[in-house]
Amino acid sequence: MADTTDHSTTGANAPAYYVSTPIYYVNDRPHLGHAYTTVAGDVLTRWHRQRGEKVWYLTGTDEHGQKIMRTADANGVTPQEWCDKLVEEAWKPLWRHLEIANDDFIRTTEERHTARVQEFVQDLYDKGEIYKGGYSGPYCVGCEEFKLPSELLDGATEDEKLCSVHKRPVEWLEEENYFFRLSAYAERLLEFYAANPDFIQPASARNEVLRFVEQDLKDLSISRSTFNWGVPLPWDEKHVLYVWVDALQNYITAAGYGSDPERFAELWPASVHLVGKDILRFHAVIWPAMLMAAGLPLPKRVVANGWLMVGGEKMSKSNLTGIAPTDLTSHFGVDAYRYYFLRAIPFGTDGSFSWEDFTARYTSELANDFGNLASRVAAMVGKYFDGSLPAAVASGDAEQAVADGLAKAVAAADLKIGEELDFAGGIAAIFEFVKQVNGYLTEQEPWKVAKDDSEEGRARLATILYTAAEALRATAVLLNPVMPSTAEKLWVSLGAEAGLGALSAQTVATVADWGRLPAGSTVTKGEILFPRLEEKPAA
Ligand code: MSP
Repeated sequence: MADTTDHSTTGANAPAYYVSTPIYYVNDRPHLGHAYTTVAGDVLTRWHRQRGEKVWYLTGTDEHGQKIMRTADANGVTPQEWCDKLVEEAWKPLWRHLEIANDDFIRTTEERHTARVQEFVQDLYDKGEIYKGGYSGPYCVGCEEFKLPSELLDGATEDEKLCSVHKRPVEWLEEENYFFRLSAYAERLLEFYAANPDFIQPASARNEVLRFVEQDLKDLSISRSTFNWGVPLPWDEKHVLYVWVDALQNYITAAGYGSDPERFAELWPASVHLVGKDILRFHAVIWPAMLMAAGLPLPKRVVANGWLMVGGEKMSKSNLTGIAPTDLTSHFGVDAYRYYFLRAIPFGTDGSFSWEDFTARYTSELANDFGNLASRVAAMVGKYFDGSLPAAVASGDAEQAVADGLAKAVAAADLKIGEELDFAGGIAAIFEFVKQVNGYLTEQEPWKVAKDDSEEGRARLATILYTAAEALRATAVLLNPVMPSTAEKLWVSLGAEAGLGALSAQTVATVADWGRLPAGSTVTKGEILFPRLEEKPAA
């Protein structure tokens, strides 16, 4: 499970920890489902940055194909105009709003992409991996994919068949086009999966892919000649490249393939491709086969996440169930949003969003357990020590137990978030620690100890408050990848910056070193981290 590659920032040209999201179709605006994967990748990469690793996080947009072309037509603009507008007005602003710290944003209509894609496919053509043939079959424009009989549902009439994902009629496509010899790679793919058991995750997704490849893998139609919104085939300009073949290559074109060999060597192969389960086959079968054909190394892992569901169906704009992330962030705030979906839904399984569940977690976990702890500790340091953090002069077993709890939380969170992509488990481990600190305060009753004016009583009070503040210092570091603004507010209120430097410079390696927060730090009450929620807005 663990990735043993050294991604340290010190080695010259050491491989970076490279994570990608799918590139999103810009036929419409983003909804919760798209943001789910992008936030997950952001937390993962922020975690690795906090380990001190060299990291590269890529996202972007998929702008070719029939779906985009038809949407642009319907809106009376060119596909390029449509994409430019949506990317600038909807997609990029959302990622900024959600504090996504991506290192690059690739658009498939950019020269740096299309030129390299043409070279890539020309190379495969020259090697005899691509040939001309004919194909006919049911095609779903929503998926931009030919469908197998098992993937169709009956429609309203005897002849009508529906795509099982979009519940919309498929179209019959009959074309002469170019094919990639995908079938020739079945054996090599199966060997690769066997030699790399962690390549596809979770296990259920892996099994599905194995079954698919073990059956009868067909060659892949990779060009279209009935429309022109795509990358022209360099050897036959009457055809454009099938949108998926173009799109998958974003992972290498953005990383410098064919343009910047040094950077490419540093970035490729990617550490993790994050994908939704509906696009797993493209990433775990077609993409690896294309890379094998080109003689390039394969990504290390493809990790599939489940779907956000509404009323038992995949949330989607085309089914009019897409909810805009800003509908939720305006009520709960960005950090709570980032927290909620990763905490509430085990990564890899489907999950439903509910306003009630979000509200309940916000109130009990964020506002009560965490936010109140932070404000109580700051208030007591203010009240009993004039805001100057006292030293822990009388530590005993109870304090040691808190330090041990921290070490345990750090080890668990590092493994779960950093390696296993078990975000829910990792966040739960951090919140177990928060709970432990709350329990510690309840047991130690500093508000009662404060009534004891003796030297011993003062020493005890100082120790309790130092312990709680030090625990919060560590919590701010651990939660920084998940809730960066909240962690920063806490960092500032603890006065940690003066003694320890910027929060962004803290590392996973030192977070459990007990006693880092210097005594004498100026603790201030600061902003309330999770204010009481307003009434739910009317639907
Ligand atoms: N453009 C392709 C991906 C190309 S990657 C080389 C595509 N785009 S998409 O916009 O339709 O979907 C992008 C991602 O969003 C997919 O991983 C998909 O699973 C995810 N989601 C779309 N709706 C979703 C939910 N309701 N829930 C979770 N993720 C879902 O496919």
